[in-house]
Amino acid sequence: MSTPASGCAPAGAAQPHQVRPAGRPDNAWVSQAIERIQADYQRSADTHLIALPLQPYTAAGIDLYFKDESTHPTGSLKHRLARSLFLYALCNGWVNEGTTVVEASSGSTAVSEAYFARLLGLPFVAVMPRSTSAEKVDLITFYGGRCHFVDHAAQVYDAARQVAAETAGHYMDQFTYAERATDWRGNNNIAQSMFAQMARERHPVPRWVVVGAGTGGTSATIGRYIRYQCHDTQLCVAEPEGSVFSAYHRSGDASLCAPGSRIEGIGRPRVEASFIRTLVDRMIDVPDGDAIAAMHALGRLLGRKLGPSTGTNFSAMLTLADEMRQRGELGAVLSLICDAGERYRHSYHDPAWVLRTFGQPTIQNPALADL
Ligand SMILES: Cc1ncc(COP(=O)(O)O)c(C=O)c1O
Repeated sequence: MSTPASGCAPAGAAQPHQVRPAGRPDNAWVSQAIERIQADYQRSADTHLIALPLQPYTAAGIDLYFKDESTHPTGSLKHRLARSLFLYALCNGWVNEGTTVVEASSGSTAVSEAYFARLLGLPFVAVMPRSTSAEKVDLITFYGGRCHFVDHAAQVYDAARQVAAETAGHYMDQFTYAERATDWRGNNNIAQSMFAQMARERHPVPRWVVVGAGTGGTSATIGRYIRYQCHDTQLCVAEPEGSVFSAYHRSGDASLCAPGSRIEGIGRPRVEASFIRTLVDRMIDVPDGDAIAAMHALGRLLGRKLGPSTGTNFSAMLTLADEMRQRGELGAVLSLICDAGERYRHSYHDPAWVLRTFGQPTIQNPALADL
């Protein structure tokens, strides 16, 4: 095992919650809070599975699909996670009437948690890198949350712990708890929903599911569900430049560190406790230029703006689809639209910002050149 680089605290090193009284939270407020979240869920609709008929893949018997997680009330796949984390914390007795909820985030989870904090009338503080998109900051503020900025993604954990200590609040800690707060066996989780929506397709059981990893919670939920259902589906994580998960997947060394990703929402500088490497069949490294080109290409194909983690997914999907075509394999490849491009109007959708941040983009994935 290598030595952790300085400033790179191992994932899940400290207990994120304060010492609270043991036993059942004998509290009508907690019951009402759980009921309020369940009622909010009851009012919700499921997200669409969008088919992307793309020649020449369709002609070769390969179908591409995206589960559109941008249509949740808070605009990203993190709506599901935020609901699960609040329910988990409430049932554990970690959040109570008046508790300040604190979260370390690259922005999307914080937007969704701010929504649920407002639903319950709780103060909320988001601890995020200063580079987080202005649109996400505005949404957190809109839902009544406060933003606390740090200079680098690796500083969010300690800063969140400190803000929680100062406010006598609760550090939600998505990076530790995402994989266990979500019900992976079913309960209409993202995996169960997408497999059910495939039922009438020509390849109802997908060959591949492709996701990005921030906490690793989405990949853990889908990976476990695939095995639990004994599906013949493989799970691929699309990995942005600068993230540690690929190296960890190869080595199993949880003390590894990396510079950190420039694709907002996915890729981490340290190995997160919620990233379960044994559930991931394949990692595909996606260069930043390919992620941004794929974001635009898919946006043109679907007639709407998308976020950069969705572009990363799409580039990896095309790599897999090309490999399948070369081998003469038929089947479906599924992925996620994680969020919409409106959140990134002043960043990934601004050519001047892209040039300043990434330099002149180059495209390495040959499948993107054909689109
Ligand atoms: C936009 C976006 N896509 C994908 C992910 C990855 O999801 P997970 O945290 O479940 O690994 C995140 C995580 O924050 C995200 O914000």
